[in-house]
Amino acid sequence: MSRGLTRIWGLALLLLTAGVSGAGEEPPPADAEALWKYISQPPGFQKWGTWSNFRELRRSRCGTAYGFYMRVYVNDIALKARGNTLPVGSILVREGQNMGSNTYAPNGQIMAYTVMYKVKGFNPKGGNWFWATYTGLGQARDSGALSECIHCHQTSWNNDYVLGHDLK
Ligand code: HEC
Repeated sequence: MSRGLTRIWGLALLLLTAGVSGAGEEPPPADAEALWKYISQPPGFQKWGTWSNFRELRRSRCGTAYGFYMRVYVNDIALKARGNTLPVGSILVREGQNMGSNTYAPNGQIMAYTVMYKVKGFNPKGGNWFWATYTGLGQARDSGALSECIHCHQTSWNNDYVLGHDLK
């Protein structure tokens, strides 16, 4: 192959990789699998920050089906926000852990992930939150404007449906 041709191929490859990695940073649509892919891209949501009162693993009231203990990861868009409404693009990932069978202590096994993702125009009646549930391994289960989630979380409508942290 001539040097010129090699250079063109090199350039094409460079543009292709730039295009692909750029696309990965685009916020995903309201789709559970796309959302999981997005939040798991390196370094992954486990490396996100969180609100101060969520730093420790704690007992949760968010339904035992999703784990007795929880920690919550909050993306930068939500962390930097001020006021009682979170901006479009905010993502809150709740990690639910099981309880050891004979103890009231977490057993280290991740039971489920429940996620809130704010999508422009998705559900204006419900704060535009897209709700999603996953297995502990990240397999998508239910998602959408889930009445199950909204039922509990809407009691905090004046805190943008967030129950465990005071936004103001
Ligand atoms: C039985 C009531 C209840 C239901 C049902 C419920 N949650 Fe929650 N959720 C809570 C409470 C209370 C908290 C605050 C932390 C805590 O003490 O558990 C919470 C916390 C969260 C958080 C962390 C942000 C916050 O609001 O504090 C996320 C994310 C979340 N829930 C997602 C969901 C999703 C997704 C569903 C539906 C699959 C759901 N929840 C269903 C009660 C509920």
